Amino acid sequence: MAVEKKTFYIRTFGCQMNFHDSERISGVLARNGLREVPDGEADLADLIVFNTCAIREKAEQKFLSELGRLRGLKKRRPGLKIAVAGCVAQQMGRELLRKAPFVDCIAGPQNIELLGHSMGLPDCNDNPDCNGKNARRGRFVFLDENQDISSLELPAARKGKPRAWVSIMYGCDNFCTYCIVPFTRGRETCRPSGGILEEIRRLADEGFREVTLLGQNVNSYGSDVDFPGLLAMADRVDGISRIRFVTSHPRDLSPGLIEAIGGLEKLCEHIHLPLQSGSDRVLARMNRRYGFADYMGKIEQLRRRTPGISITTDIIAGFPGETEEDHVATISALGQIEFDGIFAFKYSPRPGTAAASFHDRPQPGVATRRLGELLALQDEITLRKNKALEGSLQEVMIEGPDASVGGKRLSGRTRTNKIVNFGTAACEGANEAGLREADITPGSVVSLKIIKARRHSLEGRL
Ligand code: 5AD
Ligand code: SF4
Repeated sequence: MAVEKKTFYIRTFGCQMNFHDSERISGVLARNGLREVPDGEADLADLIVFNTCAIREKAEQKFLSELGRLRGLKKRRPGLKIAVAGCVAQQMGRELLRKAPFVDCIAGPQNIELLGHSMGLPDCNDNPDCNGKNARRGRFVFLDENQDISSLELPAARKGKPRAWVSIMYGCDNFCTYCIVPFTRGRETCRPSGGILEEIRRLADEGFREVTLLGQNVNSYGSDVDFPGLLAMADRVDGISRIRFVTSHPRDLSPGLIEAIGGLEKLCEHIHLPLQSGSDRVLARMNRRYGFADYMGKIEQLRRRTPGISITTDIIAGFPGETEEDHVATISALGQIEFDGIFAFKYSPRPGTAAASFHDRPQPGVATRRLGELLALQDEITLRKNKALEGSLQEVMIEGPDASVGGKRLSGRTRTNKIVNFGTAACEGANEAGLREADITPGSVVSLKIIKARRHSLEGRL
């Protein structure tokens, strides 16, 4: 009789980096013979993994409250193993084990491959860590800095076909004063280009059509080639139709990258370029090492080389010392630049960062009001920019069913990273457009006319 495979479930919080780390955790566990279960069966799994985010307090609180709910489950099912991975594991360390004694294993973002140790997996048999310094009374702690992470070629169980994430570098050396990432993900280290390209070629063979190169600051990528050089090599991989990258630091946005975005065929016309604030005083206090004029200069160069490029950004509202005048500078920056979209957050102090010791934070009500003003202004700008696309033809890569309504409609993305939904009626029109049914599947690229623009999506027709 076949032996039932042990099962695992992963709950992921946070950014694309974390979701990709979860794919790797999943790949490593699957390699060891475990089977992943869907959301509905989480409570029945033999191993539950939380992959956590520490970037703002809210994400951390959400995880802690979900973890708390497992206390009772563990009592009912003592055989259940609970592992915590990611930035909160790294940040809280052993304190997490004191607060939540029912947790069996913690592993920081640089040690995700070790998570399965609590399950006594085949991978661990020869590994001295399994019974050595990292194990105490059956609990495992993996928090050491791991500079080898960039040469580890871990398997990944990817879920997002036709799109795939590919890590090109790990960690961050920038130490922006608000940011926990340099403390949790460690020093910047780059993966050699050979392994990256091999992975992209393999993805193409497996039927993936779009790759997003991932790193905290991809512009400072440097191994045997620099970042534009890596993009040029990726652009030549057969079978891949689109290449994207996140995320970029404005200071390191080089002329070579600006040229690559304009010139490379598969590299999409979109850049996420976090501004954080429109005030030079605040930017200096954030240790961003650029001023607003530098940033604006880069935007102008990007738009000159690639007219129609879409630009998105991150903004923090209510940073310590932010005056009304600083806030107005950010408002006017949004008006002047006209981003395609922004992610704006209220400042959240993170223990251990430099800004956590800045004691001149605006009142919480003030930060909330400022965040609201930024979002309201951007809503108008986004809608206006999307409306300008009405009537235009856009190259759309189909990703799957429109998530909001299920199987009846399809959804895809423009090269500029805007979501386009279109109905099955539009598919029926495919014959007229000279397309076969097989052409309208995830991964294929179609030309759609934009018939209606909304703030968060466009409506298209073949
Ligand atoms: N508080 C609020 N927002 C933050 N970010 C990073 N750290 C903090 C913090 N402590 C935001 C930045 C960054 C994005 C990923 O998260 O805008 O670009
Ligand atoms: Fe954090 Fe700044 Fe590094 Fe981005 S560049 S991860 S904001 S320290």
